[in-house]
Amino acid sequence: MNQGTLHSLLAEEADKRRIEELRRFIDYHNYRYHTLDAPEITDDEYNAAFQELLRLEERYPQWKTPDSPTNRVGGQVLSALETRRHTLRMYSLDNVFSTEDWQGFLKRLENALPGVEPDFWCDPKMDGLALELVYENGRFAEALTRGDGEVGEVVTEAMRTVRNLPKVLRGVFPERLEVRGEVIFRRTDFMALNERLRKDNAKTFANPRNAAAGSIRQLDTSVTASRPLRFLAYGFGEVRFGDMPSWRTYAEVMARLRDFGFETPPGGRLCRGSAAVETYHAELAEKRETLAYEIDGVVMKLDDLEAQEALGYTARAPRFAVAWKFPAQQATTRLLDITIQVGRTGVLTPVAELEPVSVSGVIVSRATLHNEDEIRNRDVRVGDRVVVQRAGDVIPEVVRAVLSERSPDSQPFVFPHVCPACGQAASRIEGEAAWRCVNLSCPAVIRQSLAHFVSKAGLDIEGLGQRWIELLVSSNRVRTPADLFTLTVSELLHYERMGVKLATKFVDSLQRAKKEATLQRLICALGIRHVGEQTARTLASAYADMDALGAASPEELQTLPDIGPEVASAIRAFFEDKPNVALLARLKELGLWPVQSETPRAPVGPLTGMKVLFTGSLSMPRSQAQRMAEEAGAGIAASVSKKLSLLVVGDEPGSKLEKARTLGIRVVDEAAFLALLNKGDGTLVGEDSADAPQASIEGNG
Ligand code: IVH
Repeated sequence: MNQGTLHSLLAEEADKRRIEELRRFIDYHNYRYHTLDAPEITDDEYNAAFQELLRLEERYPQWKTPDSPTNRVGGQVLSALETRRHTLRMYSLDNVFSTEDWQGFLKRLENALPGVEPDFWCDPKMDGLALELVYENGRFAEALTRGDGEVGEVVTEAMRTVRNLPKVLRGVFPERLEVRGEVIFRRTDFMALNERLRKDNAKTFANPRNAAAGSIRQLDTSVTASRPLRFLAYGFGEVRFGDMPSWRTYAEVMARLRDFGFETPPGGRLCRGSAAVETYHAELAEKRETLAYEIDGVVMKLDDLEAQEALGYTARAPRFAVAWKFPAQQATTRLLDITIQVGRTGVLTPVAELEPVSVSGVIVSRATLHNEDEIRNRDVRVGDRVVVQRAGDVIPEVVRAVLSERSPDSQPFVFPHVCPACGQAASRIEGEAAWRCVNLSCPAVIRQSLAHFVSKAGLDIEGLGQRWIELLVSSNRVRTPADLFTLTVSELLHYERMGVKLATKFVDSLQRAKKEATLQRLICALGIRHVGEQTARTLASAYADMDALGAASPEELQTLPDIGPEVASAIRAFFEDKPNVALLARLKELGLWPVQSETPRAPVGPLTGMKVLFTGSLSMPRSQAQRMAEEAGAGIAASVSKKLSLLVVGDEPGSKLEKARTLGIRVVDEAAFLALLNKGDGTLVGEDSADAPQASIEGNG
């Protein structure tokens, strides 16, 4: 090796070390700045380091990494993961919190399906990252996060590094299998990870769930590989059984998952009847703290899969399963101050500023006090020792004061009647607990509506954090969401800490969001009262665009699922508000105007007006058959009753067939059902009657 080569190798080595040093430096100061709001260096010093790193990464593209601070805005990794649609939607679970709630759930279940055996597969509710794995001919092929339930992020490569994940299924398996479950950290592994991160001066994780999500939703899979993650399987999506018989009970599903080689939630078991479920819940609540994993309740799933199918789903959750959450976790701490936060609808929310305290593994320093009446009812005063509670994902709240420790000179809190952000008088609307700032140009209201507009629930615009919104609003450059889309790179450069690269990224992500916005996201982003993601989805599937939605009467809106008078009138009120009308006009002008091209709700087809039910095993997944029926205009019935128009039977149909016959309901086999879909003239072929012999059923129920 000659002198020159050696010299340049040493120089490269030094540059590499410098890159690492700069990343650590920038990461740390990002954290001070964005997370702690406590910067230690000046903006100039920060910019100098950032620019130097950019230059070095340009010179050595081979050392660029996806987690470099140059790939992030505001301390947040820009999600560069590919996304994909789930074959079948991944639902959430409804929660119950008491024995009474649980019995209420059972009642509803029994009303919907009289005579069903209330046997449940019960297992612990794991607190991790929900995922779906796809196995093709027994080989692990793909992994998707739950995402929004319909579309998830592709994390196949990250999941390959999870040690207890079967890469190949054992024994006899279905042709195609979608397995659902949770990626988790054991408590001890989680603590060891944080210990290590702390040593490396890296950002630690607040809880095992965040750690699991952060480790999987990673571009750099070597990071994932270095972490002791585990996958626990607790369910399935679409299954193509091929020659195998299909499954009949949840207990059977769990046994098969274990046979295939999956780890399943520890302690899961079949509970026969309601009392057994209650015992199970009590036992697990008792053992909770001693388990290797963090859990936050018990999940109960009806054991009979046919009954599950019959019960089906509400807009967000299955009717056949429910999570029984454990009581909220509490801790006591000092209430240092009460501040007032102004929300995007102008509501003034009192916030407890607390001495930081750990509640079920999360450090809490702020908690909600809800509203004026709640503060009075709970008689909470600044300086009090208070009980703080954190229940699952819910915002921490102050439950009560510890009166025995109250200082004799403490004073009741006086709720302000002016908006702390703009100084204008607030008003308390009759019949409402909240004080509201009604000033349309209140900067806090503007900031919050913008923050909502760009948030994950809204248009999900990457990198546009709270701090940038504040800057853009306080400089009067942005007042409505529409203003965002006129920002240019050159004007952004006038802001501190903004370089060409960042500005370009900003503008690009805004333009991308504009192009990719769906109607559902836009509806949600606008922050219409009572309209969250679920309602937005319903509205987007019923109307072609915002104009069509804006023209809908409250009566018409109420024909949609889960939309009552209150929601309908909130939607009307939104469209009757002049500033909103102006905003929509500008969004349209700017080209942010998604049009829903999918088939309208309640399609009209050969089965319009009919109620259809499937029983026995079909050649396709039942959910697919149901979808086909729905696309042909039919509704899916929950059970055999007089209202049923058509029973479609597969192999081994069971008792439904007999019941349908007794009630004189039309019965067809799968082939006849398919023929019917294609026929389109409303006549049934292959009926269970003498004049349709070509596709009749085997009446072997
Ligand atoms: S079963 C048919 N079992 O909790 C019901 N879910 O809050 C499908 N979860 O989306 C889910 N532990 O991701 C089931 N033992 C368990 C679970 C579990 C955690 C997750 C699941 C669900 C979420 C709802």
